[in-house]
Amino acid sequence: MEKLIVQGQAKLKGRVTVSGSKNATLPILAASLLTDDLCVLEGVPQLRDVTTMIRILRNLGLKVHQEGDRVTLSPNGYAGVEAPYRLVSTMRASFCVLGPLTAKKRQARVSLPGGCVIGPRPVDLHLKGLKALGAQIKVEGGYVLSKAKELRGTTIYLGGAFGSSVLGTANVLMGAVLARGRTLIENAACEPELADLAEVLIKMGAKIQGHGTPLIAVEGVRRLHGFTHRVIPDRIEAGTYLVAAGITGSEIEVQGARAEHLGAVIDKLDQAGVGVHPAGGGIRVKPRRRLSPVDATTLPFPGFPTDMQAQLMALLCVTPGISVITEKIYPDRFMHVAELGRMGAQIKLEGATAIVCGVKRLSGAPVMASDLRASAALLLAGLAARGASEVGRIYHLDRGYERMDEKLVKLGAEIRREKME
Ligand code: EPU
Repeated sequence: MEKLIVQGQAKLKGRVTVSGSKNATLPILAASLLTDDLCVLEGVPQLRDVTTMIRILRNLGLKVHQEGDRVTLSPNGYAGVEAPYRLVSTMRASFCVLGPLTAKKRQARVSLPGGCVIGPRPVDLHLKGLKALGAQIKVEGGYVLSKAKELRGTTIYLGGAFGSSVLGTANVLMGAVLARGRTLIENAACEPELADLAEVLIKMGAKIQGHGTPLIAVEGVRRLHGFTHRVIPDRIEAGTYLVAAGITGSEIEVQGARAEHLGAVIDKLDQAGVGVHPAGGGIRVKPRRRLSPVDATTLPFPGFPTDMQAQLMALLCVTPGISVITEKIYPDRFMHVAELGRMGAQIKLEGATAIVCGVKRLSGAPVMASDLRASAALLLAGLAARGASEVGRIYHLDRGYERMDEKLVKLGAEIRREKME
């Protein structure tokens, strides 16, 4: 296990380039299960979660070749239908092989993902959607067994207690593209990663309309072919660097960041006093002198993303005044609160709401990362704090941020990676 040692009160300067989106890459890799043809995905970030998805696909019999940011997948005649617990339990996104396997192989045996530190993450919507398409679904021995003589198009309402589901929509969409007839997915997820998956499916020959909106219409086809595609830039990584500039009072350029994917984040940062301006091929950030408190509520896209909640909280910890953050996607996603508290942050939790009373300065401390976005928030807090911080269990960060410490060092931060005793 490794830790990062961060020297605080950093000033950043220069340009950072955003990698390809993790959350777009994972379901797009799974979409290769829908064809027998060669598929090529470019812009793939080198991350632990991507490696896990590739292991799952290899385990199903695909030949996968990775060279730099380009992944070539040869599904021709793959015979596997099982995603085992030992792999799925390490990454929930692997559950999105269920839809494509059911559509292409007419059967699948996929482990239920199980618990997760950010709260309960059920898969009822995934199963409801595939059942509506005609799959027979059984849960046995911790596995979902799915069988289908034929999938048939239908109308499916895919909303749950917390709104739409990103990977649930991905699974159902990948089932519907090979179903007979027309499918309407109501309350579909509108996240850019889901829209990117739909673009890939269209390149494969699928007939899809309305992706990027809550109503997706699919006309099933008999066969899909291969694709070549460049994945969209990672909007959460981009947003994290925008906050890095805000929290350190630095001016930087985030190359590749797409403003149209970051509307709610840009709006909140602007209200907080972090000036964000589109600049040729990216976004330039220039914080104003004094930051102001803001209130934010996480919501499905185009609302403020839950995946930016912890990073925004780090910024608000050093913003004078009282800010309120309400988590409407994962009400328990607050593991970072206690760790930020160890650095001197003043945060009170009331159910799914965090009341943040900004302090003048955080102080460096040893802290422990609990999940991916929490680890990014702790690193950001460490950049702003007085003195050095040690962020432990950094494997969480490596699951979803491509070389974040190296990228920050290039911007002028002082960060060392060391083995944990
Ligand atoms: N939900 C249900 N039933 C379901 C599925 C989801 O009730 O069958 C609930 C969830 O418990 C949650 C809400 O619906 O309250 C939204 O969950 P969603 O299904 O959209 O999450 P996901 O698809 O499993 C993806 C991202 C997450 C991100 C969420 C929300 C990937 C690989 N993961 O997860 O990313 O937080 O959407 O935007 O795309 C991360 O990158 O750090 C991360 C956790």
